[in-house]
Amino acid sequence: ALLVGASLAVLSTGASALTIGFSQIGSESGWRTSETESIKAEAKKRGIDLKFSDAQQKQENQIKALRSFIAQGVDGILLAPVVETGWDQVLKEAKDAKIPVVLVDRGVKVADESLYLTKVASDFVEEGRLAAAWLATRTSGKCRYVELQGTVGSSAAIDRKKGFEDVVKLFPRMEQARSQSGDFTRSGGKQVMESFLKAEDGGKALCAVYAHNDDMALGAIQAIKEAGLKPGKDLSIISIDAVPDIFKAMADGDTNATIELNPHLGGPAFDAIDAAKAGKPVAKWIKAQGPLYLPDTAADEYKRRSAQ
Ligand code: AHR
Repeated sequence: ALLVGASLAVLSTGASALTIGFSQIGSESGWRTSETESIKAEAKKRGIDLKFSDAQQKQENQIKALRSFIAQGVDGILLAPVVETGWDQVLKEAKDAKIPVVLVDRGVKVADESLYLTKVASDFVEEGRLAAAWLATRTSGKCRYVELQGTVGSSAAIDRKKGFEDVVKLFPRMEQARSQSGDFTRSGGKQVMESFLKAEDGGKALCAVYAHNDDMALGAIQAIKEAGLKPGKDLSIISIDAVPDIFKAMADGDTNATIELNPHLGGPAFDAIDAAKAGKPVAKWIKAQGPLYLPDTAADEYKRRSAQ
């Protein structure tokens, strides 16, 4: 009877629930904020004690957060790595402490892949290929475009650039005019687009904008309007994320396409930690997926997504 009483007490206080550390990059974009909210909500639903740390875009803050999670003896760690490299040492410290680390959204380049349990993320190279295939189709393979890159050194920027170029090089009349980082922010996208337009005769010789995320595309739309051109018409625009604001812009005719990046990564990430704790095998990459959206459904998508 004593034993039953003790286990009931554990259940009712929730003392057996896991404690998980989550090192998030920051809040640079609408997508990032949705991802944070979704992971926090999923943790709450599962009774997980989530220790959240916002790195404000700095890798050094993420490394500090990971060391603090390790010192606290958490049961697992979610890491959204701001850049790809420089993680070997701290991941080794987590592994030595037998704490499984799940990468969420972005990937890392490490010498030993056993330093992390799994990656729950979309395929950024595929996103870049899809974006270029859409642009090649829209322009019959003839287009002088500019690229707004994400954060320098991030897997999202590196792979989205690579995927796009994989396809562009198959079309001899597609040409990249300029490419620069807008750091995944709306203000960065606007600023870089303004300088592109100035350098490119007010944008008259340009055919399209490929933005690595929706927030930069939204900034670019503003810059294009201020330069006296019509975004979505004079210049075609494609970006990635599928945040509510881009659907509003698409419904208004200011942009042409977006590729969805699934922000609901908490469920599969927590499942992976549970599986590892139960000694079950876990795949090295748990892929998230998202389709390409066009203006025909934009107004409905905006309504649906902004009501959530
Ligand atoms: O890593 C994914 C990218 O990071 C998203 O596309 C962007 O919006 C975010 O900030």
